[in-house]
Amino acid sequence: MSEFVEVSREAAVCRVTLARPEKKNALTSAMYERLTLAFEEASADESIGALLLSGSQGVFTAGNDIGDFLAAAMAASAANTTPAGSRFIYTLAKFDKPLVAAIEGPAVGIGTTLCFHCDLVYAAPSARFSMPFVNLGLVPEAGSSMLAPLRFGMAKAAEALLLGEPFDAAAAKELGLVNEVVESEALAAHAFLKSAALAAKPREALLAARRLLRGDPAPLLARMDEELRLFHKRLRSPEARAAFMAFMEKAKG
Ligand code: COA
Repeated sequence: MSEFVEVSREAAVCRVTLARPEKKNALTSAMYERLTLAFEEASADESIGALLLSGSQGVFTAGNDIGDFLAAAMAASAANTTPAGSRFIYTLAKFDKPLVAAIEGPAVGIGTTLCFHCDLVYAAPSARFSMPFVNLGLVPEAGSSMLAPLRFGMAKAAEALLLGEPFDAAAAKELGLVNEVVESEALAAHAFLKSAALAAKPREALLAARRLLRGDPAPLLARMDEELRLFHKRLRSPEARAAFMAFMEKAKG
């Protein structure tokens, strides 16, 4: 289990904090496993009414830890198993309780795509969202190829997902990804208050309303299957290898 994901509870809110700031909270397989477990436990625990996800030290996440991710994907492919990151995105999409995110600084890849699965998202002015999948020789994941056009409209979704253009907190609010832009010092408290407010609602009514807002999950899950199939195929492509090698070379300095 990873020490880089902290799980705690306050009243009826489960707080999940990404805590690997020296690597910009880049997500390893161990972190994905811890995240999956935290979501599963929050779902099963009747005393938990909402889950609040945040980063640390002014950063949400740089997305997949590139070195770990490549190794995990290759190992999973050889063993014909599902990598931990892929298991997490299904857990996220199927999570059945209110999910709130507080975003500061970079929110790369899954850092942005997970926001589509949240009920409420609050962002500091420093938040910078990006989905650079195509730049990395990959395709969108976590249902973002369906959810971004639905949320943003096709024109803006193409800018974000095909051009891979990053966008800031104000733009994210305009696009409907973020509920409110909140000053950094007030962000954690604000997101917690909203999480606690959701957790305090009549539980069964809230969960039923949440399911209605989301509609039939089947098309989303089918799209995620298709994204994942292509994503793993793309990972083995020369385009993706070149992009990842370039990152590793840069990281080595
Ligand atoms: N995987 C592995 N390590 C990562 C990482 C990632 N996705 N993102 C950052 N890091 C590491 C850097 O290699 C560096 O490590 P070092 O201190 O040992 O050299 C450290 O985290 C700090 O990153 P740095 O790039 O110096 O920080 P920054 O503030 O200048 O930039 C980002 C932050 C997030 C904009 C930048 O790190 C970035 O673009 N990362 C890659 C994002 C990405 O492509 N993710 C994959 C999505 S699928």
